[in-house]
Amino acid sequence: MWGGRFAEGPAAIMREINASIPFDKALWRQDIAASKAHVAMLGACGIVSGEDAVAIERGLDSVAAEYEADGVPENWDLEDIHMTTESRLAELIGPVAGRLHTARSRNDQVATDFRLWVRDAIDAVDAGLSALQRALVTRAGEHADSIMPGFTHLQAAQPVTLGHHLMAYYEMIRRDRSRFQAARARLNESPLGSAALAGTGFPIDREMTAQALGFDRATANSLDAVSDRDFALDYLQAAVQCALHLSRLAEELILWASQPFGFVRLPDSLSTGSSIMPQKKNPDAAELVRGHAGRIVGCATALTVTMKGLPLAYSKDMQDDKPPVFEAASLLALSIAAMTGMIADAEFRTDRMRQAAELGYATATDLADWLVREAGLPFREAHHVTGAAVRLAEEKGVALDALSLDELQAIDARIGEGVYKALSVEASVAARASHGGTAPDQVRRRVADARTALEMD
Ligand code: ARG
Repeated sequence: MWGGRFAEGPAAIMREINASIPFDKALWRQDIAASKAHVAMLGACGIVSGEDAVAIERGLDSVAAEYEADGVPENWDLEDIHMTTESRLAELIGPVAGRLHTARSRNDQVATDFRLWVRDAIDAVDAGLSALQRALVTRAGEHADSIMPGFTHLQAAQPVTLGHHLMAYYEMIRRDRSRFQAARARLNESPLGSAALAGTGFPIDREMTAQALGFDRATANSLDAVSDRDFALDYLQAAVQCALHLSRLAEELILWASQPFGFVRLPDSLSTGSSIMPQKKNPDAAELVRGHAGRIVGCATALTVTMKGLPLAYSKDMQDDKPPVFEAASLLALSIAAMTGMIADAEFRTDRMRQAAELGYATATDLADWLVREAGLPFREAHHVTGAAVRLAEEKGVALDALSLDELQAIDARIGEGVYKALSVEASVAARASHGGTAPDQVRRRVADARTALEMD
């Protein structure tokens, strides 16, 4: 494609290091779409004849049909998807194919293709996250009343409901979706027509191609347009944050599925066995979601570091932008699908959760709150009295509400019979009815709101 200037061909190693076709063939659909939009515009603006434009568009359709049927051929001599397509087009329709590359460069071409690809990836992620939210909301609705220990420092802290815990992840995914949408909105400008770096002397219509490709407008600065990969970084950063949430959820499922916790049985279909230990059922899918998050962080780091020292405009380093984005996208899609399956089909062992909530003195705060409310103690004093009650219960090896009224009154005479109502785990969660709190009614309200929001997806 550029042989005119050269006396000899590239060394084997040059061909190999230069070739991006092994990975950028994934852009073929976007490349064909952008080329068709470009040549239709060239025809409409009289830069190529209407007849040639039609011949090229039909030829591009034939190339696309071949790719669809047989895959994209991988010839390193043709470097990338752009040259591969143009060269096949020339084989099919002859020298008129050479008119396609008028008023464009591979620099604006690849920037356009890649934006289109990332836009599709964002739409796919959004659909996946919507399905995950549905699974979370369904299970949260089933478990608005199921009591489990809430933790801080992974120590039993206060009872919460499983529904509330699951809805915490609904909120995280809601923010993830909005981050992806913000990335999509910023991405949606067309670089096509920026040409190599400076724009073009041909009387092109950039708004026409922008519209044809579903962009909101054409980019405003040709230098920026061909050297900008913010859209890919925005995508990766949103992916990192999302993967981080999935990883935290995975970590909890792994912990909960362990025998000492025993809070959940993960679906057989998303677990594996051991080749030596017959009793084993391992939460491999969750572990891989946790592992993939690390790799996604690596992808974001890779592109960040690739971009950080590049002068304007295009440098070949930017060819390395695609592998980390492709890798992150497939890891994220898998992680979302695996997590959706695990949440949908997990068997939550609410009996075990409830038992665990009753151990560990998780209602101690309720005793302190009762002393403040009913006996008029300052909170700090109530905290101290409650601490003494916990110490006594611990010495005796019993739950707080198993202490007799005499024993409690020996610690503080102001404690009365009514305290026992406050010490049950049900009373504890029901009391936390502040906006966003764990009380079953609050959880049901949030689940209903979430269902309404998801209906609009
Ligand atoms: N294959 C290149 C890439 O993926 C696009 C071509 C731009 N090449 C160039 N020499 N200007 O970035």
